[in-house]
Amino acid sequence: VTYRHVADEVQRSIESGDFRPGDRLPTQRAFAREHGIAVSTASRVYQELIRRGLASGEVGRGTFVRASRQPLDAALQEPQTAPTDLDLNFPLHPEQFALASGVMAELTSTEHLRRHLSPVGPGGTASARAAFSTLGQASWFPEEHQMLFTGSGRQAIAAAVAALVPPGGTVGVEELTYPVLKGIAQRVNIDLVPLGMDEDGVTSAALVDTHRSVGLDAVYLQPTLHNPLGTTMSTGRRREVARTLAELDLPAIEDAVYGFLAEDPPPPLAAFAPDRVVFVDSLSKRFAPGLSVGRLICPADRVSAVTAAVRSGGWIPSRFNLTFAERLIRTGTLAAIEELKRRDAADRQRMVAQELAGQRIRAGRHAYHCWWQLPRPWRADLFIAAAAREGIAVTPGAAFAAAPGVASDCVRLALGSCEFPALADAIRTLAAIASDAPPAHRID
Ligand SMILES: Cc1ncc(COP(=O)(O)O)c(C=O)c1O
Repeated sequence: VTYRHVADEVQRSIESGDFRPGDRLPTQRAFAREHGIAVSTASRVYQELIRRGLASGEVGRGTFVRASRQPLDAALQEPQTAPTDLDLNFPLHPEQFALASGVMAELTSTEHLRRHLSPVGPGGTASARAAFSTLGQASWFPEEHQMLFTGSGRQAIAAAVAALVPPGGTVGVEELTYPVLKGIAQRVNIDLVPLGMDEDGVTSAALVDTHRSVGLDAVYLQPTLHNPLGTTMSTGRRREVARTLAELDLPAIEDAVYGFLAEDPPPPLAAFAPDRVVFVDSLSKRFAPGLSVGRLICPADRVSAVTAAVRSGGWIPSRFNLTFAERLIRTGTLAAIEELKRRDAADRQRMVAQELAGQRIRAGRHAYHCWWQLPRPWRADLFIAAAAREGIAVTPGAAFAAAPGVASDCVRLALGSCEFPALADAIRTLAAIASDAPPAHRID
């Protein structure tokens, strides 16, 4: 028999329920003895089970049957079906629909539609650029021609990556990063390399060391209300990172999609390094994922490369969305909705801090998510399965990890997608789950 046949046998036992999620498999030595095979073959069987997504192994802690065959680092990227979604973050405020409806009504006349249903290029329109340039970066005044638009923030990130990084290149990222970037990088064979961080975010020393050892082509960072950690990099650190980028002659992508939630944030990283940072923002969180545009502000000498990337990627915005966004800004409606969300996010964080007091939580005061290092011996996959049984979806920490083997005991809670009372119930349920032992550790 080959190791694959033995793995098939174990797989059948898992599928038939003889082994349950969270069960610890025997030690490799015991398994080898039981099956009359060499220990080295047993070891290959276990590796094969891990490869098939049936088990997870941790050095020194044994091999466990996984709760789900889905590879844990694939974040759920489609609209959720779980009754309580703490996985995907689509913050919509109950009052925003009435506010937006008036703005939308102005656009539906025949005359407006005749104008706004025609196509538009990556530069959008002059009046959209003028409106967007009033959006919150008080200490930084890029020229309007440096602004480009895409269909969404994700498209803007994809375009920035395509313009700054050659296929097969290398990008430095925070140790925990936005999962969609991992997908974008994988598709074009770009390596993501984690950069060492402290409480204030990526350090200059980590940038220098990593660039020396692997040769970076660019860096992608979320300085304000980082997803998933909720942290905001200080002004001093932004200045330092900007200086280091200049010393190393590296371009950077600054993802500011959640930045609008911060109260009095420091100036964007781009303000300290306007000639090397491509700034990315979108309306998906500011307004709504179902009616969004992405926005890029590029260093003057990168505008044509990013424009070409937006065109060749097929990432140009919808003119109607762009016009609607412009109206939202000009009428002050967007600012009003953002303020509602800022207060709502802070209320939610306060509730979470109360319900999960004593737990290891990281979050920003105005972030719409938080990061939870689960109490031992919980691991994310078992916790996710236990939460799913209660109808609650949460995201495994590993989905955000730039390198494998990180954050397997962490989850991210998205706080923006469900209504406050349902969220409070869900948080209390999760607290109760965490205060009990995982199934594999319970003595029945
Ligand atoms: C950090 C970060 N950047 C970018 C995006 C994507 O923005 P959009 O929904 O506009 O594509 C998200 C959405 O979740 C995000 O969390």
